[in-house]
Order: sequence, then C-alpha cells, then structure tokens
Amino acid sequence: MRVLISAAQLQERVQALGEEISRDYQGQELVVVGILKGAFIFLADLVRCLTVPLTLDFMAVSSYGEDTHTAGVVRIIKDLDMPIAGRQVLLVEDIVDSGLTLDYLVNLLKTRKPATLQICTLLDKPARRQSAVELHYVGFTIPDVFAVGYGLDYAQHYRHLPYMAVLDADYTGE
Ligand code: IMP
Ligand code: MG
Repeated sequence: MRVLISAAQLQERVQALGEEISRDYQGQELVVVGILKGAFIFLADLVRCLTVPLTLDFMAVSSYGEDTHTAGVVRIIKDLDMPIAGRQVLLVEDIVDSGLTLDYLVNLLKTRKPATLQICTLLDKPARRQSAVELHYVGFTIPDVFAVGYGLDYAQHYRHLPYMAVLDADYTGE
C-alpha cells in the first residue's frame, strides 16, 4: 500500500472545489446528493467548504459483488428522501471508473426533472471509461490503479484512512 494523495493534498483540493462550486451557485440553493458509501468523507469535507444555502440527501448504491471492478449492474439500496423536481442538484461521487454507475444514476435522476443536475467526483479514472458521462467538478484525475481510503473501500475495508492509497497487492487488473 502506497500513498496516492496525502491528507493535506485532499484538504487543499476539497477547499478549492468548495470555493468553485460556491461561486458557480451564487444566489441559488443546492440539493447536494451524496452517493453512499464511498462519498461520505469527501461529502462531509466538501459541504463544510460550501457557502451557498443547501439541503443534503443521500442515495446508497452498490454494484454486485466485492470485486475491484463494477459489473455495471447498480442496486439502489436507498433512494432520495425528497423530490428534486425544479431543484439545482449536485451529485457527489467518490470515483468514476467505467462510468456505468454514474450513467445509471444520472438517467434515473433526470426522469425526476431537476432544474439542473451536475456531477462532482473526488476521483476520475478515465482509463477504462465505457460510458461518456460529463463530469463538472473533478478533484483528481488518477491513473488505472485501485484507490482506497478517504471513503473508498476494497471489500468494505480501508474507508477510514485519512489519505488515499493504492492497493497493489491482490489487484490483477481484471
Ligand atoms: P464505475 O461504475 O465503474 O464508474 O465504478 C463506480 C464505483 O466502483 C465507485 O463508486 C466505486 O464504488 C467502485 N470503484 C471503482 N474504482 C475504484 C477504486 O479505484 N477504488 C475503490 N472503488 C472503486
Ligand atoms: Mg465501492
């Protein structure tokens, strides 16, 4: 396990993202939707850097299995509590890899007619993208490695690390 992004780098980037989003949504009210479980730490840090009025909601999704790769089959474990019709929605994700999870979520949420729907992801891993989904705010673009920590897991472990690490043991690439 080696450090990919330090805690200090994370804090600095999240602060900058918060300032950018606050500027972009000046005078509006946001619905910030965190995607559980992976986005929980990023979301908690990010919303404390936002200066616009906002409400928070969560969706819990899971790809089947405990593999290092998504099957593209998304299971909704918890849906939003509140309607988003006519609202400014910011979806907060941990990482976009194939893009299949996000593609599914964006299509689902668009059917509920939000005024706007934008994506903020901590990590973008474009190497194996299968679905061209537009990312409006990206924390870091990373190479094709398996990242853990700061909310992200491998088989539910390592979410609590205050930094991002690369898991190379046991990771074979497919
Ligand atoms: P996608 O559908 O392939 O874009 O994958 C999205 C989900 O796969 C993420 O929300 C993560 O749960 C998981 N995932 C993909 N890459 C990684 C990684 O490097 N570390 C941890 N989880 C990952
Ligand atoms: Mg995961």
